[in-house]
Amino acid sequence: MEYTVKSGNPEKQRIGCVVVPVYASRKLSPSAKIIDKASNGYISNLVRRGEIEGDLDNALLLHNVENTLCDRVLLIGCGKEKDIDAKTFYKINTNMVKRLQSSGATEIASYLTEVPVKRKDINWKIQHSIEAIDQSLYQFNQLKSAKKEERRPLRKFIFSVNGRGQLMQGEQAVRQGMAIAAGIHLAKDLGNLPGNMCTPEYLAAQAMILDRQHKAIKTTILEEKDMEKLGMGALLSVSRGSSLPAKLITLEYKAGDKKQPPIVLVGKGVTFDSGGISLKPGAAMDEMKYDMCGAASVFGVINACAELQLPINIIGIIPTVENMPDGIATKPGDIVTSMSGQTIEILNTDAEGRLILCDALTYAERFEPDVVIDIATLTGACIVALGAHPAGLLSNHNPLANDLLSAGQTSGDRCWQLPLWDDYHDQLKSNFADIANIGGKGAGTITAACFLSNFTKKYHWAHLDIAGVAWKSGDDKGATGRPVDLLTQYILDRVAGES
Ligand code: BES
Ligand code: MN
Ligand code: ZN
Repeated sequence: MEYTVKSGNPEKQRIGCVVVPVYASRKLSPSAKIIDKASNGYISNLVRRGEIEGDLDNALLLHNVENTLCDRVLLIGCGKEKDIDAKTFYKINTNMVKRLQSSGATEIASYLTEVPVKRKDINWKIQHSIEAIDQSLYQFNQLKSAKKEERRPLRKFIFSVNGRGQLMQGEQAVRQGMAIAAGIHLAKDLGNLPGNMCTPEYLAAQAMILDRQHKAIKTTILEEKDMEKLGMGALLSVSRGSSLPAKLITLEYKAGDKKQPPIVLVGKGVTFDSGGISLKPGAAMDEMKYDMCGAASVFGVINACAELQLPINIIGIIPTVENMPDGIATKPGDIVTSMSGQTIEILNTDAEGRLILCDALTYAERFEPDVVIDIATLTGACIVALGAHPAGLLSNHNPLANDLLSAGQTSGDRCWQLPLWDDYHDQLKSNFADIANIGGKGAGTITAACFLSNFTKKYHWAHLDIAGVAWKSGDDKGATGRPVDLLTQYILDRVAGES
């Protein structure tokens, strides 16, 4: 899709379709008024007749409107003008795409940029229109033999800005929107691929592709023998039952000052989580192909940063394994030694995410990070606590937590903080090793984070539990690409703060 910005009157656009907002109840936006005036009251006549109320899901497609240069005008209902928030704006864009897809128009001039969204400026609206358009058009049909192709697919969106003074900023917003949308797209594709295709080896190959595509990215892959030398007994214990070897992927994006400590992102990359010997029940087990969505988000974020050539240093670390039962698989009660030297009693082989993350988090120390953020589909308990709306956030450094909460507000890809108090550590006591890998009844998301906090004492760290937000179940089952938006926003905020 091509996206640009332009300033100019709606009736003068020589284009397939001009999209203008109408508010409830029957209130014309400035661009709708201009077209109304040019067409001698055609729009206000229709509105008076009750053809469109301006409610949120309304739309009305008009052809050959008098004294306009466009083939079509699409009126989009936006609800009450004063009530439009980020979420509503997203819905308005989604509705627009749905109507346009069956309209035959391929090139669109959108005046939805004039919709007042609470506490958001025009750049935010351009960026998020692009994300919404990309998300509405997303399909994962590469594995279907009969593909549904649009006869006249949408090709181009032009966003209206107020005057030439907004063009430069608008173009920057377009670049940001496109980079984030591409990052989300990549994360979704990786997530949606089945476990027999998206294996640890496949993820490693994808990382090598990013290395080739971007000059500023350097990829290294550690094999099991390398990890043995480093003493990563926790990570390796998870892949013992799989016939696929574990990999540890490092993506180094270096475009900042050489001396600037990097932001390290650690993504859980379990390409299929059967539970291992502590086997999961059969219902919805297919969804455990999504247990690598943390890793996918790291790919997406680093790809977005590289496309935007952000002047910053970011390291992505992706421990990737498959968790399977087998004759030599790790058993409940087995004790392993982590890279940090701490011994772990594995009381449940289904609590595997923390086992691969703890060694990756120890490995992160060597990059002398400014902050470390891990992203993981870690606990079903997080879905119980927070549902599918925010990601769970736990951190040993409140300023970092606050930065992430704020990036969540800006992007709409939100997280919510849970306490990481010492009180919970008792739940991880083991009779035979330094710690157990499960915390028993109660606060499963917190005890999982507590477990990880034993490995993050040397730096500022935040943990995002994305079990509830990384994919949708049910009829529209599919990866969401979250939290690529949140993390890219966090990095954009950091870049803006440092310049
Ligand atoms: N990948 C799962 C967490 C998960 C489950 C995410 C369902 C989304 C939906 C993780 O590896 C896991 O199995 N966690 C266990 C931990 C328990 C054994 C302490 C869980 O949440 O049940
Ligand atoms: Mn598990
Ligand atoms: Zn898992």
